[in-house]
Amino acid sequence: MGRTVPRHVAIIMDGNGRWAQQRRLPRTVGHRAGVKSVRAVVEESVRQGIEALTLFAFSSENWRRPQAEIRLLMELFLQTLRSDVRQLHENGVRLRVLGDRSAFPDVLQRRIAEAEDLTANNETLQLQIAANYGGRWDITQAARRLAADCVAGCLDPNAIDENAVRARLTGADLPEPDLFVRTGGEKRLSNFLLWQSAYAELYFTHLFWPDFDEDAYRLALADFASRQRRFGLTGDQISTLAGCVGG
Ligand code: IPE
Ligand code: IPE
Ligand code: MG
Repeated sequence: MGRTVPRHVAIIMDGNGRWAQQRRLPRTVGHRAGVKSVRAVVEESVRQGIEALTLFAFSSENWRRPQAEIRLLMELFLQTLRSDVRQLHENGVRLRVLGDRSAFPDVLQRRIAEAEDLTANNETLQLQIAANYGGRWDITQAARRLAADCVAGCLDPNAIDENAVRARLTGADLPEPDLFVRTGGEKRLSNFLLWQSAYAELYFTHLFWPDFDEDAYRLALADFASRQRRFGLTGDQISTLAGCVGG
């Protein structure tokens, strides 16, 4: 049946705005409330022995939102780095930011670099925050790197295979996501980890992100544990394999 605990969980943290609107509060209050869920999910991931957690915080398309909301999101990102990085470090969490950070304010870029440097050698949990990230951007920057390597003469275009592409995607040193969660009720990928999630198990919940707590996360993990992943094989083949390799 395969592993019951995913090695890598990827989450689209959606529904902050609707959580706030339901309470007749500004959307920004929902974003602030969502930070608590980030902490809960990170801590539970450490407890569960999950190796990697990738959280979608800001997409390459989210720049289309009102300026005030974007400003608040940048401010919140900065504040959370300030308040939480030390604790993450103490818990053995390695923090990395995926995405094109060059569009962020300088102070935020500096903070991100400091947090990444501080936590670079931690091994308990690989935490990736996808910010100004898009799956198409990721595949495009991999294509750019492939082309540059060909031009530099260190890669033969005929030798480009899936592994060559995969190796140039962001977060290539981590296992691909096993479990892909989206909160907030929508059933779409919204340009998150397109290549990497080719064989991820999808899990959708109606809970808005600020309501997604440890218990909700454990339900998602239990659902994952009940699935049979087949990777193109038949169910019988999988059962036989499980018998051969001791489960
Ligand atoms: C997700 O919540 C957070 C970001 C995209 C930054 P939303 O802000 O998309 O909340 P809804 O989907 O409008 O409720
Ligand atoms: C996806 O949520 C991006 C993040 C959660 C950061 P959106 O709310 O931006 O996605 P759409 O626009 O509903 O597809
Ligand atoms: Mg949304």
